[in-house]
Formats: sequence, C-alpha cells, structure tokens
Amino acid sequence: MAPILEIADLKTLARKRVPKLFFDYADSGSYTESTYRANESDFARIKLRQRVLVDMSGRTLETTMVGEKVKMPVALAPTGLTGMQHADGEMLAAKAAEEFGVPFTLSTMSICSIEDVASVTTRPFWFQLYVMRDRDFVMNLIERAKAARCSALVLTADLQLLGQRHKDIRNSLAAPPKLTPKHLYQMAIRPRWCWNMLQTNRRTFRNIHGHAKNVTDLSSLHSWTAEQFDPKLSWKDVEWIKKQWGGKLIIKGILDVEDAKMAAKTGADAIVVSNHGGRQLDGAHSSIAMLPKIVEAVGHKIEVHMDGGIRSGQDVLKAIALGAKGTYIGRPFLYGLGAMGKEGVTKALEIIAKEMDVTMALCGKRQLADVDKSIIAECPF
Ligand SMILES: Cc1cc2nc3c(=O)[nH]c(=O)nc-3n(C[C@H](O)[C@H](O)[C@H](O)COP(=O)(O)O)c2cc1C
Repeated sequence: MAPILEIADLKTLARKRVPKLFFDYADSGSYTESTYRANESDFARIKLRQRVLVDMSGRTLETTMVGEKVKMPVALAPTGLTGMQHADGEMLAAKAAEEFGVPFTLSTMSICSIEDVASVTTRPFWFQLYVMRDRDFVMNLIERAKAARCSALVLTADLQLLGQRHKDIRNSLAAPPKLTPKHLYQMAIRPRWCWNMLQTNRRTFRNIHGHAKNVTDLSSLHSWTAEQFDPKLSWKDVEWIKKQWGGKLIIKGILDVEDAKMAAKTGADAIVVSNHGGRQLDGAHSSIAMLPKIVEAVGHKIEVHMDGGIRSGQDVLKAIALGAKGTYIGRPFLYGLGAMGKEGVTKALEIIAKEMDVTMALCGKRQLADVDKSIIAECPF
C-alpha cells in the first residue's frame, strides 16, 4: 500500500474501498459544486508569514471549544450516513475522536444511534439536531441526547430544504426506493466493505427508525426528510430549542454577518461559519472568505467556529489566525473512515495535527493563543 501522507491519500484509498454511490454521496456538493470547490481553493489564496530564529520549543495545540479541553481545535463535523462509508462508522469515528482528544458530533441522520455511540464512548459527544416539523420527534431526540450526556447541541440552520446533488440522483441514491443491480454491482466489487457491513446490523437510520413514523430505508428516509425539513423554521424556534435543551448550544450554518448578529443575540455559546460543505447554496462564498467579516462583527460576543474545505493542518491554522476558536472536518474524516475504518479517522487527525504543529512553528509561534493575523502574509478576504 502506498504511504498515507496527506488527506488526499486517504481520499484515494476511500475511493477504492467504498461503493461508488456512498463515496460520491460524501464527496459531492450541490448543483455546479462551485461553493464546494471554493471552500478548498480559497484556503490556498491565503499566504502565511515565514519567521525564523525564534524559539520553537515546547509547542502545544491544546485549547478549548465551548469550554471543553481539546487536543487541537478540530472537531469531527456531523455527517449523515456515516455508517455507510464503513460499517458502524459513527461508533468508530467517535472512538477515534475520543482517543485523540477532540469532539465528535453525531448527526441526526446517522446510521448508528445516539445510544449506539454512547455505548462505546466515555467522553461526552456533541449531538447535531435538524429541527423537523414533527416537534414530538425533535423532543424525543433532545431527551435522548440529554440521557446520553451529550455536552453540546449543534443546531443546523442551513438545511430548511435540500440542495440538489446531481451525483446522488445519477447514482439513484435519493430515489427511487430499491437497491438496483447497479448498486449491487458497486457493492460486490468492494468485498471488504461488504464483509464489514455483513458483520453489523446497523444499516438503517437508527436515530429515526422506531422513533419517527414509516421510516424504514434510504428511500423512505429521503421522502420523510423531504417533507419533514421545516421551511418555516425561524429564530423563534431557535429560542424554543435553546429552552428545551438547556445546555451548550452551537448554531451551525451561518454565512452572513446579519445572521451572525441574530445568532449572537440568541445567547448561543458558539456559531459555526459554514455552508454545509458546499452542499446547500451553490454560488455562496466559501466559509473561510466569510470568516473574517463574521469574526469582526460578533467575535467579541460569541465563540466563532468554522468548517468547509479544511484539508490540512495549514488550513486549520489559517482559520485560527483569522479568528476562529475552533474548526470542524467533514470529508477528511469520512475519507479516513472509508479508507481504513477507525484507524483511518485517527490517521486523518494525526496528519492534520502534525501539519498544524510544524506550520505553527515555522510561523514562529509556540501555542494557539499566540496565533493571530500576524502570521498571515496575504489574505484576499
Ligand atoms: C457526507 C456529508 C454529510 C453531511 N451531513 C450533515 C448532517 O447530517 N448535518 C449537518 O449539520 N451537516 C452535515 N454535513 C455538513 C458537515 O457537517 C460540514 O459542514 C462539512 O462537511 C464541512 O465541510 P468539509 O466536508 O469540506 O470539511 C454533511 C457533510 C457531508 C460531506
């Protein structure tokens, strides 16, 4: 096997090991994918300042995110269907995050349930909530997240309806309902994936199955979600959620200064500057391009996190320099998971940590608290 040196290597391996319809599901963005591409390419437009002959000893990447100690400011983002990249994917990723010392966020749309993840972890994880029309179901999720001792609720605000991913439709992932011969072929040529999948009974949406009516498979989930995502969702509902939850609240999917100001008013603990990894509004700015403006507007009132396009430790450091208190990775850990299971998620975290540490040192800094705009040589945003 070729050496795994960077996140791109995990992506190459995941492409070889995960059936095409699920690899494409993770790897694609909405419509023309212009925002998905911008998330990555805008990081490359930021140039760092090389500093020399400063004491680079005794470095640490440790910091906090919403008051929780983290080994580095990189949480695993909530991603739906993670258990389809690898059998028991959410449980494996949560364990890898716990061992590494960073937060894991479980999606409402996960394959493994809140209870599954709680059963294999001791560190409290974060739970991501989609506010469905069925508010009883929302309450059910909140109560289960409390019972599992989740330490933060991540409320996703940028998915009141679904942006279209062409690849999912071409792969017949979204609809129609049945497993086609093409799907079966795609799975049959990935024997390792099939073997692992046969070892688990977790192959459905276990946060929803048995808790929401008539959701039994991928397709019924799709039609259920299409009608359950609430187009009327508003800031008033955020207040309601905050009250029901009563714990730390992170609002995810903020890309505009005005929305950031609204979010800060709700008394949430943090916002995530995010465009859902380029999966929703195609044509929107990249997250990193919007980060400095949002930090300037609300950074003194609320913790600002960001995600979208992070593929290296250098990217994380650039986000921190531009004012993010923390970041999240989605695809990098999914590639790791698809490539090598839990070991691959650990590998993704190790790669990013190592890159971040060396980059911080070469910028002349020894700890994250000292990383600020002074390490940026050029930034177009
Ligand atoms: C396959 C996939 C599924 C996702 N599912 C969810 C989800 O269920 N809830 C959510 O809030 N965000 C979801 N996201 C968005 C991620 O939380 C995150 O914002 C995004 O992946 C960050 O971009 P990156 O993948 O470039 O790191 C998903 C992203 C991907 C790639």
